[in-house]
Amino acid sequence: MSSPVSYRLEGNIGVIAVNNPPVNALSQPVRQGILDAITRAQGDESAAVLIICEGRTFIAGADITEFGKPFKSPWLPELLAAIEASSKLVVAAIHGTALGGGFETALAAHYRCAVPAAKIGLPEVKLGLLPGAGGTQRTPRLAGVRASLDLITGGVPISAPQGEKLGLIDKIVEGDLQAAALAWISELLANETAIRRSSEQAVPEFDPAIFDEYRSQLLKRARGQVAPGYIVDCIEAAASGSFDEGMAVEREAFTACMESPQSAGMRHIFFAERQAAKVEGLAKDTPKRSVQSVGVIGGGTMGGGIAMCFANAGITVTMIEISDEALQRGLAIVDGNYAGSVKRGKLSEEKARSCRGLISGSTDYAALADVDMVVEAVFEDPGLKKKIFKQLDAICKPGAILATNTSYQDVDVIAAATNRPADVIGTHFFSPAHIMKLLEVVRGEKTADDVLATVMSLAKTIRKVPVVSGVCYGFIGNRMLRPYGKTAQLLLLEGASPQQIDTAMEAWGMAMGPLRVFDLAGLDVGYKARQALSDEKKGDPKTYRVADLLVELGRMGQKSGAGFYAYDDNRKPTPDTAVDKLIETVADDLGVARRKITDEEIVDRLISALVDEGRKILDEGIAQRSSDIDVVYVYGYGFPVSRGGPMFYADQN
Ligand code: 3HC
Ligand code: NAI
Repeated sequence: MSSPVSYRLEGNIGVIAVNNPPVNALSQPVRQGILDAITRAQGDESAAVLIICEGRTFIAGADITEFGKPFKSPWLPELLAAIEASSKLVVAAIHGTALGGGFETALAAHYRCAVPAAKIGLPEVKLGLLPGAGGTQRTPRLAGVRASLDLITGGVPISAPQGEKLGLIDKIVEGDLQAAALAWISELLANETAIRRSSEQAVPEFDPAIFDEYRSQLLKRARGQVAPGYIVDCIEAAASGSFDEGMAVEREAFTACMESPQSAGMRHIFFAERQAAKVEGLAKDTPKRSVQSVGVIGGGTMGGGIAMCFANAGITVTMIEISDEALQRGLAIVDGNYAGSVKRGKLSEEKARSCRGLISGSTDYAALADVDMVVEAVFEDPGLKKKIFKQLDAICKPGAILATNTSYQDVDVIAAATNRPADVIGTHFFSPAHIMKLLEVVRGEKTADDVLATVMSLAKTIRKVPVVSGVCYGFIGNRMLRPYGKTAQLLLLEGASPQQIDTAMEAWGMAMGPLRVFDLAGLDVGYKARQALSDEKKGDPKTYRVADLLVELGRMGQKSGAGFYAYDDNRKPTPDTAVDKLIETVADDLGVARRKITDEEIVDRLISALVDEGRKILDEGIAQRSSDIDVVYVYGYGFPVSRGGPMFYADQN
């Protein structure tokens, strides 16, 4: 097998070129190839060495598929030590994304140049890890302590020009990267520029209080995660001892992280997310329809956010509402959301203005005649949805994709209201739609392959994580939520308080406990949904007795100032003795014996409820694979990524 690394002389410069598609990950043959090349360069007529990559990116990191498998030499830190020790000047030339071990490789070179669009970063923390090949030691020596803490505990890549400001990139080059890098190296040689080894630089001055400041910040920001704390320890070691001592601290911390269940869960989700984008049985070369314009029907809670998702990706949007007043209200929600994004620093004012400019509104369905796709997001009323799809069938151009954002309704029944069921699909966004990453893509019985392929690819364009679901009541996520919610109600009757249940689940890692979630979503939503169900589907009416009574008492959750909790004007919850009394009375009426329930029992029963339903969903073929269910729960329901999703968690425990 030929090596993924080549070495050749370009004039007096030795060029090490990595070619390991798709992302030039540092698999064993790549590590070996670079080591062989750098060794060879020490003895040939080259005056300097260039490390560059072919394809779409510089090295994007260690090869994550090798993690957890027996180690194969050469070890990355050893390879990087060999690069840095080179007696000939080494330059790394970066395009695409230089991430993790890839950026560490660049840090081991003596100088770094990059194209302006390149990104650099140490995202290991997102895999429950830390840079394990000197990243925690070399970065602070070049960029200082604070910038390194930000970069490595945050894991968010930065642009090459930002890297230049921090001292991590030495030169931004324009035009053809290799030609520009070779020209720059010739300049460095002509100027007799000295070799500069990152490991030999002194860490710039810093305030020693920064480490404790950071540790207390991380207690809130990275609750329960082990890697960020270790990163602070490593950077503190870099700042207080020799490079070799710091490397020893980094090595120990990296091993501890690598062996942690948290990293196993996070690595599982990394691959699960990418796997979820693949649809079984759908040919890779399935043609895709062009989607340049979208109609969004309904400008309520969901419609406004959905419109923003498309506009943010440069797609024009026409929002349809029932009246001018409703339309203005809908567009005002959009304005408010954009203002919020600007305030939080997520979008520049200019970008927000140009995206907002792509959204227009109308009360006339005829405005949808030419759009490439429609997403319906009106009330969850099956009759209304069918009526709208009939209307769309009459108005929309042939080939337009007709999507529904329904949470529960049968997509096949909605599709049957049209004469083009093959063009109909479910796109289930999550609230707030412009922020939540998950998109359940509901494949109807008759949905055409090219419609599905288009929506899966469009999901990526609008920066969502798509997961395919078959048709059933609530699809993957909301269907699993029902037994979860039901178990929470039973726990209340049996003796746990809302606060005990929520605190136990949040301590375990859920972003929000189940009763706080119900209060946030509005208790009336579940109440109405239950009323609409047949007696058979409703199940045991006793189960939801407490929730039903709360609604009948006008306690709809956060929006009415009271639900399972009482809320102040800032929507801060406090436990309410009236709710405790109500629960006791209902339990008494129903003859349920109350007892002390442990936090372990709460977690165990609630997670088991999710997993049992997940298994049924798999058996019925509603989800393509178990890891898809994990992606749904991590990206849509605040399930802790460090536990790898409910199905992964169940398999490990
Ligand atoms: N190892 C192995 N495979 C990887 C990989 C890696 N580091 N990074 C990406 N891949 C694979 C993906 O699984 C995917 O495979 P598939 O086509 O079979 O599904 C393929 O490469 C393409 O990946 P994406 O779909 O994610 O492509 P994008 O263009 O959307 O994104 C990227 C490219 C920004 C590089 C993104 O893949 C990414 O963020 N990768 C991970 C980067 C990372 O975390 N690096 C650090 C690794 S840990 C480390 O380096 C430890 C060191 O300190 C010792
Ligand atoms: P909403 O009540 O906030 O908004 C619905 C909007 O539709 C209203 O502004 C209404 O004026 C408009 N509308 C009603 N009839 C219309 C018609 N014939 N033509 C045009 N506009 C019309 O509802 P929400 O919460 O945005 O939900 C919309 C859909 O999204 C529902 O199917 C819901 O199940 C689903 N959904 C809701 C989520 C949520 O958290 N709210 C999450 C995911 C999906």
